[in-house]
Amino acid sequence: MKVSIILGTRPEIIKFSPIILEFERLGIDYFILHSGQHYSYSLDRVFFEQLGLPEARYNLDVGSGSHGLQTGKMLIGIEDVLKRESPDVVLVQGDTNTTLAGALAAVKLHIPVGHVEAGLRSYDRSMPEEINRLLADHCSDLLFAPTEKARQILAEEGIPEDRIFVTGNTVVDALYRNLRLAEDRREVLSRLGLKEHEFFLATIHRQENVDEKERLSKILCGLKFVNERFGFPVVYPVHPRAAKRMKQFCLKPKGVRLIEPLDYFSFLLLEKYARLVLTDSGGVQEETCILHVPCVTLRYNTERPEALEVGSNILAGIEPNNILEKTEIMLKSKCDWPNPFGDGKAGSRIVRILIEKFGETNLRRH
Ligand code: UD1
Ligand code: UDP
Repeated sequence: MKVSIILGTRPEIIKFSPIILEFERLGIDYFILHSGQHYSYSLDRVFFEQLGLPEARYNLDVGSGSHGLQTGKMLIGIEDVLKRESPDVVLVQGDTNTTLAGALAAVKLHIPVGHVEAGLRSYDRSMPEEINRLLADHCSDLLFAPTEKARQILAEEGIPEDRIFVTGNTVVDALYRNLRLAEDRREVLSRLGLKEHEFFLATIHRQENVDEKERLSKILCGLKFVNERFGFPVVYPVHPRAAKRMKQFCLKPKGVRLIEPLDYFSFLLLEKYARLVLTDSGGVQEETCILHVPCVTLRYNTERPEALEVGSNILAGIEPNNILEKTEIMLKSKCDWPNPFGDGKAGSRIVRILIEKFGETNLRRH
């Protein structure tokens, strides 16, 4: 079996890491194809270094741009590499433009596609991620659904049951594997002047939230309200998309501490010791649930209803008073919910399924 892993953004690197490390352990023949969608050190290289991942064999360096431009450049570059390498299977993860380009390029070359984190749906087609995940799922031959709910969604969309595997989400594997290492980073709390369980953590980066001045202003106002009402600092590691927009819209948030995007260990540590997290991130909704930290999601829908169902997460939208009200509700939580996202063995399960389908022969050619 020869596998091509296609990735390009922060969450893909983190969520692919358990699979990559399992391939390394077993000596499977695989290579990483990086689209270059994320390229800043703090969104890309830092995760390869920290997670101990090997270099990508290819980096297409597509960089930023409009959806069509970025996805189009990726398609051209990925097709070229796949033709040269002829892998037995291509793996994509999640719902980014890299995910879509990888799945589409491969399926058109008749190379089987495995989609890790298949079957998530927000049913909001205005989100670029919804289009990406829907199309990636329908290009795929192997659909690795993180939960039973995701499996059901795929089956209801007509995907044959024998292509769907409920594996758990690799985000759990990555978190379990790295939390102890993150604990060694405790100095990050004192460096930021934070006390355990006496601060709020925020992340906002989604296109629909940050690209519109009014929406972003409302969210920042909500964070200010939360800071004023509860008196805890609000720490916000700012994604470059949000940083660019704040600058462009001349927004100078009050009651919020803006910091650079964090490395994975430092971010996990802040998540673990936050009193509560306010976010529009998909991965952060999952991680807070696993860490038993209450989460307020600054959106009107989510493709991760499992966290809402167990009570670790609540949808607040973007109106400042609603953000305040939902924060108040979540602060009363006992935080004793079960983790619906898996047992931390999703990566090895996925690799086992791949070996069953494509055989273990062709171990890495040195
Ligand atoms: C992308 C994904 C989103 C995912 C997020 C993870 C799509 C459509 N969106 O959003 O689903 O949640 O990654 O973080 O694929 N920029 C930099 N440095 C970088 C990368 C981007 O400064 O390394 C800036 C550029 O100004 C760029 C902007 O961020 O225009 C947006 O980057 P882009 O990759 O288009 O989307 P993300 O918002 O990162
Ligand atoms: N993350 C990080 N540093 C940060 C913010 C997030 O390491 O400053 C990690 C976080 O632990 C999670 C992932 O990035 O695993 C989430 O990525 P992001 O929010 O960018 O994307 P999404 O999950 O929304 O697609």
